[in-house]
Amino acid sequence: MKKLLAATGNEHKICEFRTILEPFGVEFLTPADVGGILEPEESGSTFEENAIIKALSAATASGMDAFADDSGLEIDALDGAPGIFSSRYADSDSARIERVLRELRDVDNRRARFVCVVALASPAGSHETARGTVEGVIIDAPRGDGGFGYDPIFVPDGYNATFAELPAAVKDSISHRANALKAARRILESWS
Ligand code: IMP
Repeated sequence: MKKLLAATGNEHKICEFRTILEPFGVEFLTPADVGGILEPEESGSTFEENAIIKALSAATASGMDAFADDSGLEIDALDGAPGIFSSRYADSDSARIERVLRELRDVDNRRARFVCVVALASPAGSHETARGTVEGVIIDAPRGDGGFGYDPIFVPDGYNATFAELPAAVKDSISHRANALKAARRILESWS
């Protein structure tokens, strides 16, 4: 079984990595399993660059192949913002949601998508990425208690409920992260 270091401290992400990729012969170690990893500055200008920065930093520090993701919300009427700045758009989830709704006040075009890019890197410096998205719209006011981040204002195409209202199993089957992880299977199959 291939061993990969999951370059994230986010338990929810590690759990999703395991659920989707362990059936394909991948065993994930956590940063705690290798005595911790430093989180590098996300200085890239794309999701791909930031995912590679995180995966490469963990791979070179640990001497193991490493896996990382970078994700966020792109809103068409805001020229793709908050994008790679999604986690830094304001100080808390509720403040981030308030900012987005303020910026979209009186805006008709509500089209948006969540994007996730996963990167696999080796200690020698090689790396590959895979991208997943989920399309939807931003509603006028938050709804639902589940999920995290921008989930209460995002309704995925084909549903009438927000990501925060849908059961976690539904979100996890159609999400940007699930789609990126499915795309990553192909990379993992060829990764030696
Ligand atoms: P990352 O941990 O650097 O990938 O930052 C991702 C940020 O994008 C999170 O802090 C959230 O604000 C937002 N985000 C990414 N995925 C989701 C999601 O599935 N639901 C809601 N917000 C998300």
